[in-house]
Amino acid sequence: MRIDIITVLPELLESPLNHSIIKRAKQKKHVEIFIHNLRDYTTDKHKTVDDYPFGGEAGMVMMIEPIDKAIAKLKTEREYDEVIYTSPDGEPFIQKEANKLATYNNIIILCGHYKGIDQRVRDHLITKEISIGDYVLTGGELAAAIIVDSVVRLLPGVISDETSALTDSFQDNLLSAPVYTRPAEYKGWKVPDILLSGNFKEIDKWKEQQSIERTKKLRPNLFEDE
Ligand code: ADE
Repeated sequence: MRIDIITVLPELLESPLNHSIIKRAKQKKHVEIFIHNLRDYTTDKHKTVDDYPFGGEAGMVMMIEPIDKAIAKLKTEREYDEVIYTSPDGEPFIQKEANKLATYNNIIILCGHYKGIDQRVRDHLITKEISIGDYVLTGGELAAAIIVDSVVRLLPGVISDETSALTDSFQDNLLSAPVYTRPAEYKGWKVPDILLSGNFKEIDKWKEQQSIERTKKLRPNLFEDE
């Protein structure tokens, strides 16, 4: 898979996409991630990417021209399955969407910034808008990092334990069962006996029950979303 991210703040994406599992996924060529500085697609000496809104509202608006140029250049090189814009007014990002994106070959993610973006970008250049939650960030870079992280870990071969991505919370609209490691007792706080029993059939049953109970208690809405 190839992911192209267009941003005015490339530095913000460097750390989240260059460590741990994502770093390894890149090294092993499971994914290629290219970060493009939108200012490289400007034509004036100040490298302007935003301007005052028509109609006189507060705040600056991202201009269409550099964005159009950046996307057009990428599109001359390959076809894209989706051109995503990160925005609080997008579709809420859920596991199902991450699963779908993980099946694509090429995607572009345009990070939103400032007050907003010229509506013509959304009308003509973007194929999908994604929000990572009902709150407003200073920009779309952290949202893009979250989307990329959740997608890359699903790519075949990225997580060595093949089943582990599939047993994640949310993969079946259930939260995961609790997990424990050594010591079996710490300050009198004990690991449930069943996990030490060696009876894997019973352990699986217990895990499933825990998943259902935790989901009922903590996220009952996940049952309604089915
Ligand atoms: N940009 C600012 N806030 C955002 C959010 N909640 N999701 C995606 N992009 C954003």
